[in-house]
Amino acid sequence: MPSSSRVFFQSSRVLVSTFQNIKGTFDILPDAYTDDGGTRIASSAEWHHVESVIRDVMARFNLEEIRTPIFEPTALIARGVGQLTDIVSKEMFAFERGDTQYVLRPEVTAPVMRAYLQHHLEQRGGVQKLFYIGPCFRAEQPQKGRYRQFHQFGSELLGTDDPRADAETIALMMAVYRALGIQNMELRLNTLGSAGTRDSYRTALRDYLAPYADELSDTSRRRLERNPLRILDTKRAHEQKILQEAPRILDFVSDDARAHYATVKTYLDDLDVSYTEDPFLVRGLDYYTHTTFELTSDALGAQSALAGGGRYDLLAEEVGSPRPVPAIGFAAGMERLFLALDAAGIDLPGAAAPDVFIAALGDAAERWVFSTVQDLRAAGLHVALDLKGRSLKAQMKEANRQNAPYTLIIGGNELADEAAQVKEMASGEQVEVAFDKLTDYLLARTGNAA
Ligand code: HAM
Repeated sequence: MPSSSRVFFQSSRVLVSTFQNIKGTFDILPDAYTDDGGTRIASSAEWHHVESVIRDVMARFNLEEIRTPIFEPTALIARGVGQLTDIVSKEMFAFERGDTQYVLRPEVTAPVMRAYLQHHLEQRGGVQKLFYIGPCFRAEQPQKGRYRQFHQFGSELLGTDDPRADAETIALMMAVYRALGIQNMELRLNTLGSAGTRDSYRTALRDYLAPYADELSDTSRRRLERNPLRILDTKRAHEQKILQEAPRILDFVSDDARAHYATVKTYLDDLDVSYTEDPFLVRGLDYYTHTTFELTSDALGAQSALAGGGRYDLLAEEVGSPRPVPAIGFAAGMERLFLALDAAGIDLPGAAAPDVFIAALGDAAERWVFSTVQDLRAAGLHVALDLKGRSLKAQMKEANRQNAPYTLIIGGNELADEAAQVKEMASGEQVEVAFDKLTDYLLARTGNAA
């Protein structure tokens, strides 16, 4: 996907830069725009709105925020996510300083587990219910809905193997989309069983697929040796046909794990969360055990995964904990959430307009306006003014562009009378307000009064 660009045609002298944002990244600007690949990039106000809805849902589910650095030791991610995964073997933005190797985080689960262990969060007592929103980095081939810097929001519930934690995580994930008005999503569900299940299933799958090796694509043939479970994700019809008779992971799952899975499903039924069971849903990260899930939407095209997650009871030990920390979480792509909002035709609130725009006429008025504006702001009003010394006409044009419901024009007469003409833009009505009453008047009229 080409990098994003936007041009203002406000004057014939269009500014340009030698530099462009890096391919697979994008700028979030005060106005929404369409990038060169035809994707609408939401405005910063829209991002802010969506983030505040996410925070609100997270708070209602009693989660607390965690923020971890955007770079981590390579070994944490390699061990946590898994050496053989696409993420670690192909998609890491890695760099070195001195003897230490770092990566820009490709996901947040392993970093959250690191922070949980490092800061002994288990000592806070009970289950730690954490959420995050922030950038992640994967050197994937950019396309619609797939970026090199993207943003995830997600949750991690650490310190419980209770199946209700699994159901609550899924319910929380669905609640975010519901709060934003998105429907028509499909939830797919599977269990990967406990530690040994994956290993024995991997062997069984390899044995089953080996005789078909010549019929597999180059990618799948390579995966057959290194990571045969990834072949289950194939989009090729012929490979899907071969897989129809392949062994199912559920046949390798212990009775306990099966019971855990059944209980998760019962809770989801109780919550009226509908799902499709998908025995081939293994997910692209190695830390999963037991419940895994993915939320997809047809509206997204090729990159149909809105969100995914699952249980990762063995990750803690993988990154050095002396004992397991049962945990479950999900993560979702913000960019794909915006695509789903667009596809559903859901409009988000834009930036708030200023309460008042104050235009100044002449040097003395400019000085008075400049300091008065700061007083009005200190009183709680959102106030705009011109910082370019432009003509009154240009200032009024700017006031209109900014959609301020009230405008004031201050010139020599107003200074002499110590009173301003306050114009309500919607009605065109104009009233005179003495300077010393101005703050209270504007606070009351704009609904900002205490
Ligand atoms: P994941 O499936 O790799 O899981 O990523 C979660 C979501 O992040 C995806 O469903 C997708 O919406 C978004 N995403 C991933 N890569 C990209 C990309 N290159 N561009 C845009 N969006 C992307 C995880 O990351 C796990 N940590 C989830 C988890 C949390 N499991 C347990 N806890």
